Amino acid sequence: MKVLLIGLCAFITAVGTVAYAAIDQESSVNKKVVILMGPPGSGKGTQAKKISEKLGIPHISTGDLFRENLSKGTPLGLKVKEYIESGNLVPDEIVVDMLIDRVSSDDCRDGYLLDGFPRSIPQAEALGKELGDNIDLVVINLEVPDDIVVKRIEGRMSCKDCGAIFNKYFTPPQKENICDNCSGELNQRSDDNAKVVGERLKVYHNQTAPVEKFYSAKGVVKTVDGQQSPGAVFNDLMKLFN
Ligand code: AP5
Ligand code: MG
Repeated sequence: MKVLLIGLCAFITAVGTVAYAAIDQESSVNKKVVILMGPPGSGKGTQAKKISEKLGIPHISTGDLFRENLSKGTPLGLKVKEYIESGNLVPDEIVVDMLIDRVSSDDCRDGYLLDGFPRSIPQAEALGKELGDNIDLVVINLEVPDDIVVKRIEGRMSCKDCGAIFNKYFTPPQKENICDNCSGELNQRSDDNAKVVGERLKVYHNQTAPVEKFYSAKGVVKTVDGQQSPGAVFNDLMKLFN
């Protein structure tokens, strides 16, 4: 009798494990991963917030994660400070570790939107390994010429409390230096100056533009004209998800 009971328990456990694995695999089949690409200042952060609200998936910006660590003075923040302030890429292994850790959270189970990652071929390969085949991948390339992004970056201000993005030339806040959403103070980023912007653009053309070609070869890239007004860009983006 005892042997029979032990056998029955083992059988139930095995069936449960197989069923759980099947459900787990099924739930990851429709994982939606959106990658928003484009040069610095092309409007990734501005659009990413709205897309993630609309699609109900978290917005993950590697730049925002680094800035959060910088402002808190964490060991990671100290490690990446010189790269960010000089406009260079943070080494791949640091970014990949941080990103994989973030996308392993529960809120990313059904998908997520990446803003500013991957930015090099090794990063794209590491992401591919993490994702496997069972995903619905969309890569969006926001196209904006260099002279326009320089002007946008020069005028950018972000809220230090809620992260909302404004622009003193194109989308100014109602009250000078005050966030329309939460009344927080608006700041300029330390890497938003003429010298560093030039370096960021150089890095973009040399190291990040090839990532777009990497995904084009897989047939998953959609290009959107990012020179239009923010509302018109958003409308075009939404057409990709209908
Ligand atoms: P990150 O924070 O990712 O910066 P970025 O790629 O340079 O892009 P930005 O945030 O400057 O621009 P955006 O496209 O988000 O534009 P936004 O919407 O704000 O990275 C910063 C640094 O972190 C890197 O240099 C690197 O050191 C490091 N890093 C991050 N990720 C990394 C990675 N994967 N690997 C290695 N290192 C990494 O808009 C810009 C302005 O324009 C705003 O003022 C906005 O209001 C305005 N604007 C937006 N859209 C419009 C429009 N349609 N018309 C008019 N104005 C507009
Ligand atoms: Mg951004």
